[in-house]
Amino acid sequence: MKPSRLTTSSQTWTAVDAYTISHLHPPSKKNSAVLLDALTQSRDEGLPDIASYPVIAKFYALQCRAMRVKHALEIGTLGAYTSIFLATENPGMQITTIEVDPHHYKVAQQNVAHAGVLEQVTAKLGAALDVLPELAKEIESGGKPRLGFVYIDADKSNNWKYVDVVIPMCESGAVIFVDNIVRGGDLVDRAKKDASTAGSRRVVEMVGKDDRLDGVVLQTVGEKSYDGILMAVVR
Ligand SMILES: C[S@@+](CC[C@H](N)C(=O)[O-])C[C@H]1O[C@@H](n2cnc3c(N)ncnc32)[C@H](O)[C@@H]1O
Repeated sequence: MKPSRLTTSSQTWTAVDAYTISHLHPPSKKNSAVLLDALTQSRDEGLPDIASYPVIAKFYALQCRAMRVKHALEIGTLGAYTSIFLATENPGMQITTIEVDPHHYKVAQQNVAHAGVLEQVTAKLGAALDVLPELAKEIESGGKPRLGFVYIDADKSNNWKYVDVVIPMCESGAVIFVDNIVRGGDLVDRAKKDASTAGSRRVVEMVGKDDRLDGVVLQTVGEKSYDGILMAVVR
């Protein structure tokens, strides 16, 4: 039988990412050094190696630019790699990012300061469901613009709750991305009942039923293997 393209190895996916990013975001780019510093510093501080990879972070940064987003939200900061990518690629944009782990938050603040984007990136410490009502008040009072872009990348079991809570903070046409939806295919493996997979299924099923949103899931391969992102647009 002819080998299916699906058997292409993850080594090939990684090589393709390395090739494309080396041309489309080479070390000579203005922000390449600070992005690398953020990863190195995060690793040296003992943070887990679970930051979004460069292709995905740049994809989000370009989405924000194309949509002329004024205010972006990230749930799950880690060492602020993606926040720094978003900020340095979109100098006029504000970013709010929420992190529950005090050590991750501290490292993120250091990385944001080192990258020179402290004025653009507001990092908030706490569990996202506790912090989001504070942000909602800031937006309602006009202290911050409505959200044009949301990136959900934290505890997967709360994926749907986060989407549900952020919708009223969004402008019409805002885009919400939820990471790690496909999970190597676990999404459709009924034997997989762990909380993260259940959280991925719930957000897909709830977005499909919600008249406030229109969504799609994009499967991805790359240096972090086979996964996918949910994209939902706020009506
Ligand atoms: C996959 S990492 C985020 C990576 C980051 N978005 C990036 O692209 O560099 C997930 C982060 O979410 C944080 N987290 C987990 N549960 C959370 C919660 N309830 N509220 C806020 N952050 C949470 C974890 O501590 C971890 O730092």
